[in-house]
Amino acid sequence: MNDINRRQLLTAGAAALAGAVLPRSLFGARAAGSETLLLETPLLETRRSAGLIEARLESVVKPLSVAGQQVSLMTYNASAPGPILRLREGDAVRLTYTNRLTQPSNLHLHGLHISPQVDLPLLEVAPGDSHVYAFELPKGSSGTHWYHPHVHGNVAAQMAAGLSGAMIVSGPMDAMPELVAAEEHVLVLKDLALQGSAIKSHDMMDWMNGQEGELQLVNGQLKPTLRAQKATLRLRLVNASNARYYRLKLEDHPLYLIATDGGFVEKPVMLEELLLAPGERAEVMVQLTREGSFKLQNLPYKRGTMMMGGMGGMGGMSRGMNMGGSSADAAPVTLLTVVAPSNPKPTPLPTGFASLERLDVGAAVATRRITFSEQMMQAQFFFNKKSFDAKRIDFSGKRGTLEVWELHNTSDMDHPFHLHSYPFQIIDRNGVPEPYRAWKDVVNLKKNDLVRIAVPLRDFTGLTVYHCHVVEHEDRGMMGTLEVRA
Ligand code: C2O
Ligand code: CU
Ligand code: CU
Repeated sequence: MNDINRRQLLTAGAAALAGAVLPRSLFGARAAGSETLLLETPLLETRRSAGLIEARLESVVKPLSVAGQQVSLMTYNASAPGPILRLREGDAVRLTYTNRLTQPSNLHLHGLHISPQVDLPLLEVAPGDSHVYAFELPKGSSGTHWYHPHVHGNVAAQMAAGLSGAMIVSGPMDAMPELVAAEEHVLVLKDLALQGSAIKSHDMMDWMNGQEGELQLVNGQLKPTLRAQKATLRLRLVNASNARYYRLKLEDHPLYLIATDGGFVEKPVMLEELLLAPGERAEVMVQLTREGSFKLQNLPYKRGTMMMGGMGGMGGMSRGMNMGGSSADAAPVTLLTVVAPSNPKPTPLPTGFASLERLDVGAAVATRRITFSEQMMQAQFFFNKKSFDAKRIDFSGKRGTLEVWELHNTSDMDHPFHLHSYPFQIIDRNGVPEPYRAWKDVVNLKKNDLVRIAVPLRDFTGLTVYHCHVVEHEDRGMMGTLEVRA
């Protein structure tokens, strides 16, 4: 969506605000034949006045239609995924969250560099209660972010039931003509595990591996079709799944990576495929050079999960092998079909974006080591051999300093590591320098990986967390605390 359309929508939203709850099912809209047209997720209604933007989000259980059946989901404002929160750099935001569930929840604004004293990961909002998140979006916040619940122990179940939404922050670079000329779509990748017509509850395997659902949905829809009006696309991708990895490939077309978790890279990076771990975001551009239908596929990816053997129960488990035909990861899965416009003439891609700050790793005041491990059979996961304890401070840092964190995965499974509030840059992986500079807040570690990241503890003091973004692992102990002092 270009900026003018966006402004019209925001204005329309401002006029219509009040309750801000817009019951709308995203699912099941069908075009002629069996084609499901991709629906854009609704924008969150906002009220904008003199640089202050106000909005309301409410977590509430609603029956929605998913892939042709009615399922009782946990939603934000009766929508799953939740409505898109569109903001701009420099905005002062007042976001009122109300919990209409029967269990504690809260809101985490994943990807924003805002104070941990605002984005309180340890806050519990009791059923019926509200909490106001008030913050300003600093320069450099632009990018594709998202929001989801964060009460320790409840995250996996609440996200599996549908709670998450995209949050888009625009900044000056979004006005580049090459970006404005492209057709923009936000694609929230979120799988769903059903048991009959209800959300499947977690079993032991789900707690070990992280739950993957058989329905690989895009914006809540199963295998929708995107009929492109333009030949150049800008896709904002959010992996909002509990545990599923997406190894994305678009048939016959390279993906031009223009942004990672924390906004634009320095220049587009051409990729044949893109791996998106849970919690990660990426923006890619696509140039459709000929007419036709092209599948956006999720290719098989082995992340070292435990599989149940066909016979022998627990004794027959093996890692990373597809036994008993139960794994969905054996073959590519079509997520979305892109239909090119007739006689497509792609507009040019941007040649470059602003250069990114080079962090001076030599000036780091502290080097920290975080070792990942697990006790698979108990579904317990650890950082530095410890399970999460909200009352324990694992790391204590000083505001305004740079730290180097060495992440070492000694477990047998991939883990996507995430730090709140303080975006970082990847220095190297197993001694190999990162090929391009980028701001990140999630980095995936395969078995045996040693990844070094540079973490500037800028601007804010407070207590926050880092954790594995396979949210079952987070709920089962793989989280630590960071206190940043003045
Ligand atoms: Cu999406 Cu604590 O994270
Ligand atoms: Cu986060
Ligand atoms: Cu993990």
